[in-house]
Amino acid sequence: MTLRTIKDLLHHGNPGEAVTLQGWVRTKREQKSLSFLNINDGSAMAGLQVVVNDTLEDYEAVIKRLNTGASVAVTGSLVESPAKGQRLELTAETLTVYGEADDSYPLQKKRHSFEFLRTIGHLRSRTNTLGAVFRVRNACAQAIHAFFRSRDFLWMHTPILTASDCEGAGEMFTVTGLNLNQLPKTDQGQVDFSQDFFGKPTYLTVSGQLEAEIMAMAFTNVYTFGPTFRAENSNTSRHLAEFWMVEPEMAFCNLEGNMDLAEAFLKFVFQFVLDHCEDDMAFFNQRIDNTILETAQNIINEAFERLTYTEAVALLQKTDQDFTYPVEWGIDLQSEHERYLAETIFKKPVIVTDYPAEIKAFYMRLNDDGKTVAAMDVLAPKVGEIIGGSQREERLEVLEPRLEAAGLPKKDYWWYLDLRRYGTVPHAGFGLGFERLVQFMTGMGNIRDVIPFPRTPENIDF
Ligand code: 4AD
Ligand code: MG
Repeated sequence: MTLRTIKDLLHHGNPGEAVTLQGWVRTKREQKSLSFLNINDGSAMAGLQVVVNDTLEDYEAVIKRLNTGASVAVTGSLVESPAKGQRLELTAETLTVYGEADDSYPLQKKRHSFEFLRTIGHLRSRTNTLGAVFRVRNACAQAIHAFFRSRDFLWMHTPILTASDCEGAGEMFTVTGLNLNQLPKTDQGQVDFSQDFFGKPTYLTVSGQLEAEIMAMAFTNVYTFGPTFRAENSNTSRHLAEFWMVEPEMAFCNLEGNMDLAEAFLKFVFQFVLDHCEDDMAFFNQRIDNTILETAQNIINEAFERLTYTEAVALLQKTDQDFTYPVEWGIDLQSEHERYLAETIFKKPVIVTDYPAEIKAFYMRLNDDGKTVAAMDVLAPKVGEIIGGSQREERLEVLEPRLEAAGLPKKDYWWYLDLRRYGTVPHAGFGLGFERLVQFMTGMGNIRDVIPFPRTPENIDF
């Protein structure tokens, strides 16, 4: 007899089939001559109801051991269920208890706050909500690969350890092999990184973009999808110190092509998740945010709004909304502004382009006005910025001074400049914050609840 997941049994099981399933007890209901167990194995939102008759060997003793949280294997036959809301149930013929869970098991049958669940990061994935989140997260990742594969993008693995600061923001975690209690010093009293593992200061990457650009100059269309790290001390519901980013990079592409890709990409991922996670999405709509299914349809069917930064600033200045940060041309848009545009003014995702050069990274292509760059941010209702990208500066003579102005030494970025020396082409790309996408998709309010093991200031236990 083959082992089957509960998801498989629920969808493809037939009455009369003999099966074995394994999982954890969610609930137990004891009646006079039989007990009902709800067993969940994480493969689906729903568990399978198991009926245990008191004719089972050692019935009393076995049932006593089966509290919420206990792990079991059950063999028996599927039967049509007389109960409402389930097609099948399993009549147990043999039942093995792998491990008991006593009354101290923290996930008893009641609603727990997400704050509390974060304190039991090793157990919270066994709850309905976190279970649904991580199944949707998995589907998003599958969708991303499916989307890029359908367009012949090559998946490239970019490094986690790096010597360069892609965003030029200096928010990097240092990685060292040096003994911190006995740091070698230079004559000037600085740490002597020439004695470190790589012979120079080394960090965890904030983005795979620079390496993705190298690969796009060989393979035309590529993407990277991996963890990125930012040592910004932001304790918000949208920031993590370790998050995953999806970064496509396209040679022979301009800002418009970049926007078109970002929009098609989000539409595809939403459709894929609706198709593959129906129960989980229905659960979020019922329990977390009753607008998410409507939002998903809106993303799929409506064209995103596109406007320039200058237009966005003018619109924000026209409203009587009281912003904490006043709006004027030149400011970096704050999350309150981003959300106002997407949530209140347009009620759908908004792509803002052509930001002031001053507030954007050195690699973004300078526009003809000499003041703005070919940047684009995709802003989503409730979440704010979920994508940041740009057309890249492909002109060596324009890039060099931008690099210097950002305080990044030319000698360290010689290879990046070389890409402009040898067969340079117009190119563009973007980065999608994977957790912000999952937040947007599920309606979950805090980014810490859409990644299995969140890293935020002073939080690294699990
Ligand atoms: O806008 P960002 O900083 O862009 C880049 O890193 C570019 N190099 C991407 C590229 O063009 N290839 O970051 C991209 C996205 C943001 O829009 C946001 O969704 C997410 O990454 N992000 C974060 N997500 C969670 N926690 C943080 N601390 C984040 N910082 C950025
Ligand atoms: Mg950004």
